[in-house]
Amino acid sequence: MNRTTAWMIGFLLSGLALTGAAQTESPDHAHMDHSQMDHNQMHSAAADPGVAAGGHMDRHFENADEWAKEFDDPGRDQWQKPDQVIAALGLKHGQSVADLGAGTGYFTVRLAKSAAAPKVFAADIEPSMVDHLRRRAAGEGLKNVVAVQATAESANLPQPVDWILIVDTYHHIANRPAYFARLAASLKPNGRIAIIDWRHGGPMGPPEDFRFSPEQLDGEMKQAGFTAVARHDFLPNQMFLVYGRAKRR
Ligand SMILES: C[S@@+](CC[C@H](N)C(=O)[O-])C[C@H]1O[C@@H](n2cnc3c(N)ncnc32)[C@H](O)[C@@H]1O
Repeated sequence: MNRTTAWMIGFLLSGLALTGAAQTESPDHAHMDHSQMDHNQMHSAAADPGVAAGGHMDRHFENADEWAKEFDDPGRDQWQKPDQVIAALGLKHGQSVADLGAGTGYFTVRLAKSAAAPKVFAADIEPSMVDHLRRRAAGEGLKNVVAVQATAESANLPQPVDWILIVDTYHHIANRPAYFARLAASLKPNGRIAIIDWRHGGPMGPPEDFRFSPEQLDGEMKQAGFTAVARHDFLPNQMFLVYGRAKRR
């Protein structure tokens, strides 16, 4: 049985098990560890009036070594197109980038090894991910990677960066307009925020409630003081949107 078939069967079984629940749950990535499901809590704007715009999926990624099997599955490259994503950022020598919600470092290591060799701040809310990122960077001799312990309120970046890349993490962030308004302080004046998150209707990703349209992202980011500067359409399963500071009138 190939991995796609295995995932489809797992997904159908989890759907059956959850039939009748007020809110159902499906994998975040194509290959989800269902043992993590107890830790998942979903927040939607309807359920949580404190969520300013859209909902967020409150889930924990505790066992980094286990998640590495999913996040760093070599088969991911086919649809994630990491080299094309990094090329689209157009990083220059001397620039810095934050990989926010870095997970096990799928993008962190590729960014660090890319031609521009930027300084990479790999930030994650999960201590086990941060520990994993630190060990992975040391193991691969990547002196330009700094692992950062983020919190739900802040990326905790030690200095302003040129780029912030957020892959499959946007939908996990609570109170996004306020969060991104604060994050602006960690971005250089002409810095950019690149958001890659799941498209509606695609074959993988979180439940539809936690997938957004480009227009919804634009609206939330506008509230945070950002404006869309680019949209890339080459990823089959995800949106890829780039934001810069909105000009003051
Ligand atoms: C689905 S994983 C994506 C990991 C990685 N970006 C990738 O593409 O492989 C989401 C990651 O975001 C982290 N995360 C969730 N909320 C976060 C927050 N508010 N700040 C920083 N990291 C967060 C999780 O711990 C998890 O490692």
